[in-house]
Amino acid sequence: MSSVRRRSPASRPVPGLTLRAAAPADLDALVRLEESAFATDRLSRRSLRTLMARPSAALIVAEVDGRIVGALLLLFRRGSRIARLYSLSVAAEARGTGIGSALLSAADQVSAARGAVVIKLEVRTDNAGAISLYLRHGYRHAGDWPAYYDDGADAHRFAKTLSPPPPGRAAARRRLR
Ligand SMILES: CC(C)(COP(=O)(O)OP(=O)(O)OC[C@H]1O[C@@H](n2cnc3c(N)ncnc32)[C@H](O)[C@@H]1OP(=O)(O)O)[C@@H](O)C(=O)NCCC(=O)NCCS
Repeated sequence: MSSVRRRSPASRPVPGLTLRAAAPADLDALVRLEESAFATDRLSRRSLRTLMARPSAALIVAEVDGRIVGALLLLFRRGSRIARLYSLSVAAEARGTGIGSALLSAADQVSAARGAVVIKLEVRTDNAGAISLYLRHGYRHAGDWPAYYDDGADAHRFAKTLSPPPPGRAAARRRLR
């Protein structure tokens, strides 16, 4: 009999969770989320506002009972089939419940719907939680950037190749774009 622990699915349903595109009314909550999740390299209110309106960006929020508990930002470039996962954050009190995982699954869907075949990201080499989550979602180590962050911390580069989306899911993906 195998002693290998069976991993839980990459994404499990989270009760009451809604994922949707960010709107200007979410700005206060998004700024608070940035402040609570990141000590450095935070997105400013101004950047967040600009990104919401930018066609080459997808800012997805996770909402539970009307409260923003997570966010994920994807960036795209015209003529490129590579999406960049620029930011992922979940409110401290909501972590460990599958919200980060749900946002990563949404990132796959939104990226594929926009024609991307690869998602790339950077993560601090000391961020064990995020690294473990990315690995479980199929990301693989693709190199390193020394002194990548404002505080001098190093980054791992991760990349994931996307499978083509099943055609029936197009409507759900469009809602998140
Ligand atoms: C990383 C982050 C987004 C994860 O969000 P989350 O909602 O807690 O993630 P989920 O509940 O979907 O998944 C938890 C999984 O993450 C991993 N994980 C989380 N914390 C961990 C830790 N301290 N050590 C190891 N693995 C950890 C595990 O794989 C865990 O899997 P499990 O459910 O089998 O235990 C969240 O911790 C966060 O916002 N951190 C601060 C900001 C940040 O670091 N963002 C990533 C920048 S690249």
